[in-house]
Amino acid sequence: MSTETSNKIIIAIDGHASCGKSTLAKGLARELNYIYITSGAMYRAVTLYLLDNGIDYTDLQAVKKSLKKIHVTFKYNPTSFNADTYLNGIKVESRIRDKEVSDHVSPVSTIKSVRTFLVKQQHALGKNKGITMDGRDIGTVVFPNAELKIFLTASTTVRAERRFKELKENGMERSFEEVLQNVTERDHIDSTRSVSPLKQAKDAVVIDNSNLSRDEQLAMVLALARKRIKRSEK
Ligand code: CDP
Repeated sequence: MSTETSNKIIIAIDGHASCGKSTLAKGLARELNYIYITSGAMYRAVTLYLLDNGIDYTDLQAVKKSLKKIHVTFKYNPTSFNADTYLNGIKVESRIRDKEVSDHVSPVSTIKSVRTFLVKQQHALGKNKGITMDGRDIGTVVFPNAELKIFLTASTTVRAERRFKELKENGMERSFEEVLQNVTERDHIDSTRSVSPLKQAKDAVVIDNSNLSRDEQLAMVLALARKRIKRSEK
């Protein structure tokens, strides 16, 4: 058995909207043979459920009640190397990226009961380590003892351009201005909310990837991860 599989660590990746967190988390998981979870997909799936069922998310009691009926799961897709998101057994990987969900996910993510509900599941997913998880509060709240924490960022324009391109490639027509506005708004809500706001963990390695390619970013973090894996063996 290789050392990488016998001695597993937790890698927490946090950062602003559309800065490539999930690409990095996914790449690391592939290289290290780890589980990959993009926690944003869980917040998006809860948001989709509330929208589909006409639940007013400002009604906190109604939201709390709904959580009992929500089951978010992931299934590994060997073709895309993706962990596809399922809501109550139905694949929602594409629908959770819809404009409507993107517009409402940040307010829904400020709700304490939603966060408690999902953080509990995230803890369970990381129980055996060997996981890369990305989000907003992974290094601060979900896995404060993660062996490696990365805080990713890039300029707002670069991030909006990347998301715009990604949506276009997936056939979702959206103007650049709309995408820029969504990214800016989500950053603002995510960083200023009272419960688990997006912030850098004290021991996080900060990477501004505005001028880094995906491969350069992956190589950089992979080298760090391998060092931490070695260290955890001692
Ligand atoms: O689209 P992007 O990759 O930037 O975001 P995402 O990771 O899919 O997350 C969507 C939204 O979920 C974020 O804007 C946050 O409002 C919320 N979120 C959160 O509050 N906590 C997390 N751990 C992950 C996501």
